[in-house]
Amino acid sequence: MKNFHSRVAAITGAGSGFGREFALMGASLGMKLVLADVMEAPLAETVAMLKEKNADTEVVSMRCDVSVAAEIDALAAFAIARFGVVNVVFNNAGVGSGGLIWENTVKDWEWVLGVNVWGVIHGVRAFTPLMLAAAKIDAEYEGYIVNTASMAGLLSPPLMGAYNVSKHAVVALSETLFQDLIVAQKNNANDPQKTNGNAQQINCSVLCPAFVPTGIAKSHRARPADMQNSEAPTESMVLAQSMTHKAVSSGKMTAADIARLTFQAMQENKFYIFTHPKIMASVQMRLDDIAAGTNPRDPFSLKADARPDARPTIESTKAN
Ligand SMILES: NC(=O)c1ccc[n+]([C@@H]2O[C@H](COP(=O)([O-])OP(=O)(O)OC[C@H]3O[C@@H](n4cnc5c(N)ncnc54)[C@H](O)[C@@H]3O)[C@@H](O)[C@H]2O)c1
Repeated sequence: MKNFHSRVAAITGAGSGFGREFALMGASLGMKLVLADVMEAPLAETVAMLKEKNADTEVVSMRCDVSVAAEIDALAAFAIARFGVVNVVFNNAGVGSGGLIWENTVKDWEWVLGVNVWGVIHGVRAFTPLMLAAAKIDAEYEGYIVNTASMAGLLSPPLMGAYNVSKHAVVALSETLFQDLIVAQKNNANDPQKTNGNAQQINCSVLCPAFVPTGIAKSHRARPADMQNSEAPTESMVLAQSMTHKAVSSGKMTAADIARLTFQAMQENKFYIFTHPKIMASVQMRLDDIAAGTNPRDPFSLKADARPDARPTIESTKAN
């Protein structure tokens, strides 16, 4: 994406963390913003922060639960009604929940997969056709989709099962989106007249950060009443929660760093956005294990400081 100024960005999970920083970064580049979050008060706070920095920022916001198809459809319609076009979509809203994988409840799975996977599915489903239609009628149009996955989409650390599954799905979805966007734009790319010389008008990236201090370790604050567990958390869930809290709060990079790297990657049309290069050695280790057919090693064994108590010992306390 060559130019951000006056372009329209829709951002989910804009009330906190990365989503808020995408909004601040976008506004600083002169973008128009459509912000969404399931939590209204933090969302309004982001809007107020933007206005405080620059009263002229064009920003609208809408409460939206990304796990609900109709709510993302309504968000897309809202964006088009306000700005006529959407250039950039950040499918970013996400939540975490941990514990031994068999101890996660049906509601844990439904909530995490609902937000992290269905949220991205709905975002891609609702916005991509609008972007392709805009590209068809405007040779100057540029579009970009950024899906927030995680290093948990490339590794499978213990006690993070539902989250790992959701983020692996986001990586697979995004890699397929990358291929499908090429397939769908092949004709246009061969005809520079149609694209004003741009090889491809709509591109995408998958963002894979490691631990960064944001609200992610307090995801439960955004958990709807009908997704709450009736039973108390198991020992492994409590341990996972404290490990996540520790890892996230000791992250050295800031959410603003992640936003800066993301915009830079969009400018360079770089699909994989890896923000913590040292962890790539663990990804390589996983790929080596897969290629050799050997059993998976501890994903954090190469980076002991990332999570000192990786592969902890915990007894399953859940009864049937
Ligand atoms: N912080 C990290 O260490 C880290 C690392 C890798 C990936 N991620 C991913 O980054 C993304 C952003 O998370 P963050 O770290 O900024 O956390 P965060 O908790 O600060 O922000 C997430 C935002 O998503 C919103 N949200 C939750 N459920 C929602 C729903 N159903 N619909 C709409 N909005 C919803 C929350 O209200 C919150 O404002 C997530 O997808 C997360 O999984 C975070």
